[in-house]
Amino acid sequence: MTQPTNGSLLQPDYVPGEPVERHFADADLVWTDDEQKQIATFRSEYPTNDGAVMKVLWMAQNKFSWLPPDVIQFVANTIEVPYAKVYGVATFYTQYFKEKKGKFVLDICTCFGCQVCGGYDILHYLEEKLGIEKGQTTDDGLFTIQEAECLGACGSAPMLQVTNGPYVHNLTKEKVDGLIVDLKADKMPGFQSVTLPQDETDLGGNRRSDTEAVTEYQTPPVSETIH
Ligand code: FES
Repeated sequence: MTQPTNGSLLQPDYVPGEPVERHFADADLVWTDDEQKQIATFRSEYPTNDGAVMKVLWMAQNKFSWLPPDVIQFVANTIEVPYAKVYGVATFYTQYFKEKKGKFVLDICTCFGCQVCGGYDILHYLEEKLGIEKGQTTDDGLFTIQEAECLGACGSAPMLQVTNGPYVHNLTKEKVDGLIVDLKADKMPGFQSVTLPQDETDLGGNRRSDTEAVTEYQTPPVSETIH
């Protein structure tokens, strides 16, 4: 695969003749041989190149930490898909970062289930603890706090997600304290499967086969604050 050239495709909010906003040097916008092989595999999995957009965007985010316009264009050029299409995908999903974030992005769910169980208590506690408000990043670049919609783990509310990855369930302030200590030590929380009581009979106590069955359920906390 040849490395893509920059600036040859259109962007949706582009002004003809003007280059995209740059955040990386040309020398940085290069795939390694292994990455090129991976991208070629992605492309081969779909009938058209559009199918590979999400996977290559994800690779780009992991490589560059975020997806500014020049990286989006780099992806567009790589898989020969118009910038507008790649931009549309990148801006539709909140999991793609269009602005710089902290090393750890904490998505605190404040949707209905988590809200009544203290989602906002956890959000406000984190804001106070880290000295930032939701949407902001700590000065040391370690943490970004975000308010999130339902992450599909309502049965273990309140919960949060760390950088598009592990969920941390049944949050308490003490659990949040421990999480921050761990993350500062570069220790990510492990995957944790949570079983719901209604799964007990039909599924033998666990929705997943790769974890221990849960035998005790936590009583959800009650919110102190709703917003
Ligand atoms: S309401 Fe929080 S995970 Fe569903």
